[in-house]
Amino acid sequence: MRQVNVGVLGFGTVGTGVVRILLENNHLLKARVGAELNLKYVADIDTETDRGIRLAPGVLVNDAFKVVTDPDIDIVVEMIGGEGIAKELILKAIEGGKQVVTANKALIAGHGNTIARAAAENGVDFGYEASVGGCMPIIKSVRESLVGNRIHSMVGILNGTCNYILTRIAESGSTFAEALAEAQAEGFAEADPTLDVEGFDTAHKLAILNALAYGMEINLHDIYVEGISGIDPVDIAYAGEFGYKVKLLAIGKDNGDSVEARVHPTMIPFADPLSSVSGSLNAVSISADAVDRMMLYGRGAGMMPTGSAVVSDIVDITRNLLTGSVGRIPVLSYQPEAIHKIPILPVD
Ligand code: HSE
Repeated sequence: MRQVNVGVLGFGTVGTGVVRILLENNHLLKARVGAELNLKYVADIDTETDRGIRLAPGVLVNDAFKVVTDPDIDIVVEMIGGEGIAKELILKAIEGGKQVVTANKALIAGHGNTIARAAAENGVDFGYEASVGGCMPIIKSVRESLVGNRIHSMVGILNGTCNYILTRIAESGSTFAEALAEAQAEGFAEADPTLDVEGFDTAHKLAILNALAYGMEINLHDIYVEGISGIDPVDIAYAGEFGYKVKLLAIGKDNGDSVEARVHPTMIPFADPLSSVSGSLNAVSISADAVDRMMLYGRGAGMMPTGSAVVSDIVDITRNLLTGSVGRIPVLSYQPEAIHKIPILPVD
């Protein structure tokens, strides 16, 4: 049976989830995929903290460059996050002909066009299902399941931390600070939680979805972004009295000659299914010409749900390695020559 060697960079929350799934469900994966997914390395600068996982001797290393340059590694799984060293490692891995998986939405929103080009030039697969919506298969849905549709709009709750905070304030009377601390303890929040509460993490995810759905260059800076830090518990209480929940929404809409792209808190009537998406759950409602409506719903953050999405990419790529067809999953859903600069409608 073919052995596929996996190197995980970053042993934080999501990295730990990926490692757990690869080790605990190793036999299941072998039976489903027909290959041995061998966790050859886990690299992290912190090699001391006990993550509750027993790794074989020599697997835990502190040098990520050793992993991306090891000729035996087939798939590099970048779980470090951020736009600095993560970008450098990903590009080095791609240039070395390795397949790459990441959950790093900030990196894709900021540099996705560069990475897509590098992956295409080197004929490798680049998987990023876990970058949007945690366990929900939103990237595959937009890029593959809905490939024959003209997508009219995508409206989603895409940040587990914000949704958790809004839910705890509404349902348990927590303060903003208490709810944020809980979300951090659960491993939902970013290392810098400003990215969550000020809406930027949601904007990163919307930029990725817009590029996939509308064939635009990933264009983060034109998105209108307003987070939830200005929301007072009293706003949530009054909204409830009038029959509304307050949710942080990402909205991407095809307006014909422009795309509307905005992130802001929104009052959602109780009758709308998005209003009942609570805690760290995420959901996206898509309107498209052939399917009419489609909704995805699931845990949008956290160790195991996000790890699950990462492993789905590892398996897709492993199947491509087995059939000799890596490099054929498009990183974005449009051919490069068809990617155009659709203006984003200005929002006042
Ligand atoms: N901080 C993110 C969130 C993690 O809360 O949704 C998942 O992308």
